[in-house]
Amino acid sequence: MPTIKDVSKLAGVSVATVSRYLNKNGYVSKEAAETIAEVIEKLNYRPNNIARSLAGMKTATIGLMVPDILNPFFPELARSIEDAANEYGYTVMLCNTDNDSAKEQKYIDTLIQKQVDGIIISSYTIKPEHLTGLQKQSIPVVLMDNVFSSDSIVSLTVENRQGGELAVQHLLERGCSKIAHICGPLSITSSRDRTAGFEHACRGTDWFTPSLIGYSDFTVKGGYTAMMDLLALHPNLDGVFASNDLMAAGALKALQETDHKVPQDVKVIGFDGIGLEMLNPELSTIAQPIYKLGKTAMDSLIGLIRKESDIMTDQVFPVTLHAKQSTMN
Ligand code: RIB
Repeated sequence: MPTIKDVSKLAGVSVATVSRYLNKNGYVSKEAAETIAEVIEKLNYRPNNIARSLAGMKTATIGLMVPDILNPFFPELARSIEDAANEYGYTVMLCNTDNDSAKEQKYIDTLIQKQVDGIIISSYTIKPEHLTGLQKQSIPVVLMDNVFSSDSIVSLTVENRQGGELAVQHLLERGCSKIAHICGPLSITSSRDRTAGFEHACRGTDWFTPSLIGYSDFTVKGGYTAMMDLLALHPNLDGVFASNDLMAAGALKALQETDHKVPQDVKVIGFDGIGLEMLNPELSTIAQPIYKLGKTAMDSLIGLIRKESDIMTDQVFPVTLHAKQSTMN
């Protein structure tokens, strides 16, 4: 079996250079890269654990935990994480937690047993102690969509509060005068911040009342039920901001079933930007840079694995208004 030393010898470069080439970590000249590639091919060399450990890798796998991959937000996120992981020479293990803490804990235990090099987590049920537990086992973690007060957990979020405000401003500009909100899970800061943005933009208006906020769970069904309840309480509402696009799709269904025309009678805006083009009317949304979020999550995790302290800070990404038919008439 050829070793990394055989490759370095035949290519006339150091073992560290071969390791940098294999792990795409650090500078390797074009000529050296070409020679190394030729030698690898010639020797039919397959990188082994020594080469990996030189780059701080244990198994060259990472775990990605998401609530439910069937929500179109998460396939796009997973795709970008996988693309970036592949660039770094890592494979991704996907775990759907289904918002079930017991299942989540079981996956965490399995990922520890499998000696993953790090974990990216988006979860509506995770608690800070679960993450610090992982860190105690020296497994780096990047948290998405949630911020824990502990300094030691790197988190990636978007401007959720500003996004909530932007949604209300847009509905007001489109002529709405009584706006309801469908809130997502209260367990994560992203969802709470969107609702805080909504409340902030509505407070001070003469029509706002807390019963214009319906509590739900980021699902189509949840959005549908919350919309029905809101219509029963406030039959004259004329705008809705749902905290994600799936709930907005559920709200559209409820409005259409109750003979409300969208956007003529009620205008609807979601959050995420997952491109639900099959909806009629097409949905306005506050879009997150999903692909960029995934890539940055992977870059940050690599930074933690390699102990490059300069990228260990939390990051917040901007959101943008995508105005479509559901608010434009
Ligand atoms: O729709 C999925 C939601 O879960 C997104 O809004 C994302 O930010 C996460 O919180």
